[in-house]
Amino acid sequence: MKKVLFVTSEAHPLIKTGGLADVSGSLPRALAELGQNMRLLLPNYQAIETTDPVEHRCQLDLDGVTVDILQTRLPDSDVIVWLVNYPPYFGKPGNPYLDAQGKPWIDSAERFTLFCRAAVEIAMGRSELGWQADIVHCNDWQSGLVPAMLSIEEKAPATVFTIHNMAYQGLFPRSKFVSLNLPEQLWNPDGLEFYNMLSFIKGGIAYADRITTVSPTYALEIQTPEFGCGLEGLLSHRQDDLSGIINGIDQEYWNPETDEFIPQQYKSTTLKKKALNKASLQRKLALPEDEELPVIALISRLVQQKGIDLVIDCLPHLTSMPMQFIVLGSGDRSYERRLQNLARLYPEKISITIGYDEKLSHLIEAGADIFFMPSRFEPCGLNQMYSQRYGTIPIVRRTGGLADTVVDALPHSIADKSATGIVFNEPAADSLLEAAKRAILLFHDKKSWRTVQLTGMHKDFSWQNSARQYLAIYQNL
Ligand code: ADP
Ligand code: GLC
Repeated sequence: MKKVLFVTSEAHPLIKTGGLADVSGSLPRALAELGQNMRLLLPNYQAIETTDPVEHRCQLDLDGVTVDILQTRLPDSDVIVWLVNYPPYFGKPGNPYLDAQGKPWIDSAERFTLFCRAAVEIAMGRSELGWQADIVHCNDWQSGLVPAMLSIEEKAPATVFTIHNMAYQGLFPRSKFVSLNLPEQLWNPDGLEFYNMLSFIKGGIAYADRITTVSPTYALEIQTPEFGCGLEGLLSHRQDDLSGIINGIDQEYWNPETDEFIPQQYKSTTLKKKALNKASLQRKLALPEDEELPVIALISRLVQQKGIDLVIDCLPHLTSMPMQFIVLGSGDRSYERRLQNLARLYPEKISITIGYDEKLSHLIEAGADIFFMPSRFEPCGLNQMYSQRYGTIPIVRRTGGLADTVVDALPHSIADKSATGIVFNEPAADSLLEAAKRAILLFHDKKSWRTVQLTGMHKDFSWQNSARQYLAIYQNL
């Protein structure tokens, strides 16, 4: 049994902006079930929601700043969560990365440096928690300084750094490195320096004992200039320590048979009932209630990564076909505006909900027929797996985790019952449109459609396999 400090900037259901939260809320549970002694470390954001008791455990002195460590649990589990409480940084309205106006926190570097310092002290056993880590498992740039800082400690625990997205690196001017009072020996081209900037993510990639990312395909992609975001050289240099482990999903929370957010629960043997969720979704979004029209959905951060520009370019052509299109998301203001304009032009066909709505996201997964994920890059992606579980056919671009989790519906793959979705290659609106046409044709071929739905619903996306792969890494360290 290893004592593992899992350091993350978000974890569902306490605080979530995207897939990192889903992973941090479920992987530690799966590892605890495999007998590991897991502790989660999170900043104590004002937005954290929990009904479990929160108790004060101790104080830590971090480079002259005193923080409190609070303790709670991951809801419905035995996994202990430690929260780094420092109200001047974390006690304000907003999300982990953006302030209440939607702008990146101006003190992001200070906030996550303090968080990393807390992780180091706890991991080294220099706290009154009575616990010392064997392994520190860090996630994304917000925890990248931890492996770097541990590299200069004696008898430090081993470190694993998981990359969920190379596009977010935590880059700050050199002057921050100085004002943050980080150890001078970490400033070098093989260390935290990246073209004279301070790079948090490099702290993880350069110093962690093992690096993982969230799909085998993305592990290869990030070693190329197209996906490596300038760090492809370092990543290839570390290829012997780098591996891709596909994310699992929480198969209880995303289960159409027990989902409390949807009006009609169903499973593969009662798939007809899915139509009731479709009707309820159409009613809720004020779209004409029609079972025969394919409903295409997209739930996403509205950012370049997700291929939203392709969707916007493809939509005017799609509207000439019999279908309905639903978007739930928020992000880039210009994408939001352009999507809303299209919805105003085609109110009978397009519904756009700007915002974040967990409950609606479940109803969409249950009620839609087709799910769009035309990402330009996608380290893993979770909604394509949620969709398969709900009998909703995903259309994905062949990249990253999408390529690893969706099997294209071709005559032979439908016949041998391996097809689970539609896969296209080029990040271009006409390729997406072709894929959508293929999906709509398939939708009207009821027998094949049902076969593809059932294949997806029967797939095992549980954490079991992936958690075992992380465990094997822990055991080899
Ligand atoms: P990423 O982490 O890059 O955003 P993922 O596919 O890994 O992409 O995970 C996104 C997660 O966030 C999924 O659980 C998805 O349902 C959820 N999500 C994204 N946007 C919204 C939204 N507007 N409302 C509700 N859930 C959302
Ligand atoms: C990132 C990626 C997404 C992945 C998620 C969880 O946000 O963009 O592809 O599924 O992390 O690992």
